[in-house]
Amino acid sequence: MTANKELRVGIVGYGMMGRAHAYAYRAAPLIRPSSVAFTPVIMSGRNAEAVAKASAACGIDDWVTDWRQLIERSDVDVVDVCTPPGTHATIIEAAAHAGKDVFCEKPLATNYADAVAARDAVVAAGVRHAIGFNYRRLPAVSLMAEMVATGELGDINLWRGTWLSDEFVDPDIAFDWRFESSMGGSTISDLGSHLIDMAMWMLGPIDDVSAMSSTFIRDRDAGGQSRAVEVDDASSALVRFTSGVQGTMEVARAAPRRPCDFTVEVNGSKGTALFSYPQLNELWVGSTDDDARLYGLRRVRAEHPSQPETAGWWPIGQGVGYDASLINQVADLAATWLDHEWSPDFSVGANVAAVCSAMERSASDRRWVSVREIVE
Ligand SMILES: NC(=O)c1ccc[n+]([C@@H]2O[C@H](COP(=O)([O-])OP(=O)(O)OC[C@H]3O[C@@H](n4cnc5c(N)ncnc54)[C@H](O)[C@@H]3O)[C@@H](O)[C@H]2O)c1
Repeated sequence: MTANKELRVGIVGYGMMGRAHAYAYRAAPLIRPSSVAFTPVIMSGRNAEAVAKASAACGIDDWVTDWRQLIERSDVDVVDVCTPPGTHATIIEAAAHAGKDVFCEKPLATNYADAVAARDAVVAAGVRHAIGFNYRRLPAVSLMAEMVATGELGDINLWRGTWLSDEFVDPDIAFDWRFESSMGGSTISDLGSHLIDMAMWMLGPIDDVSAMSSTFIRDRDAGGQSRAVEVDDASSALVRFTSGVQGTMEVARAAPRRPCDFTVEVNGSKGTALFSYPQLNELWVGSTDDDARLYGLRRVRAEHPSQPETAGWWPIGQGVGYDASLINQVADLAATWLDHEWSPDFSVGANVAAVCSAMERSASDRRWVSVREIVE
């Protein structure tokens, strides 16, 4: 299929996600051809030499050192925000004001007020808006959501999410935006936002949380001076869903030799489903209806064409990787652009931010916090 609508994208930020998004825009039409195609036309970054190099490496012809110039360009239809969370709301508000569609990396903001401001700006401007909760688009995670929605696992009673990373283990890592709460948010909002999104997507809203947080390495080098770390290295939370589901979440950037190991598990009245990211092409499932001789969890290959988010991918047995989550994300945005309905949108981003804020307040106040307390 040849695209008959080209959407020109300006990517704000040339770090890991700026480059990952550029790659996904190029690859998506090869996997899932669509009548709508995204073409990155410009990148922005504060360092001229670095952004020139990154844009050339990504095959993007133009670059600027101020994201405001990128937004002002008449040949940019979509602004793609790939900068630290503390910058998102300001960039989104400016992009919405200029009438551009906006795609933003998670988390929507570092606090609920900024997330609401970002959401309200795009709604008031009537532009499309989507947030990068890409892990939803992995076939195995999507299959789990489908099994929850169809009731195959019965009434869900328990949810368990963990995300272990070793990003902050080394005390010699210098202070950067990730350690500054107004710019990087927290480990809860960085890693937890993905888990909370997947949880609420499958199981509905969260009412109350009780969290604890720790910062093990309290100071880091900032250009020869010691600077206090402002974010948690690790947090754990108890979570009560409106539906009555009971949940637990653990996020950490202080887990040696655990690079990006996340798990999501649901236990229902009729079955269990377990996803573990290091085995991202698999979903482990077990049902109370199974033959008793097969008692236990069985490994399902989430690669069959009948399963969600597998369209256009390699023949069964070849598997997919992290990039599939980003390529499927772009393909899904292309497929829904004409309907003016992008999902998950900034309302989802703001709802997730409310839960993150509730967990942060709970950890700081050492008490249960209702999400209503944050939202009202
Ligand atoms: N969905 C995912 O899988 C995933 C993975 C990693 C990061 N992220 C998210 O992507 C976003 C960017 O993360 P990253 O890993 O690419 O970061 P990064 O540090 O690799 O890149 C950040 C970019 O933003 C620029 N930048 C930094 N401070 C800025 C400022 N004050 N104003 C304007 N630009 C600024 C940097 O120059 C760089 O181009 C974050 O919101 C992060 O949470 C998402």
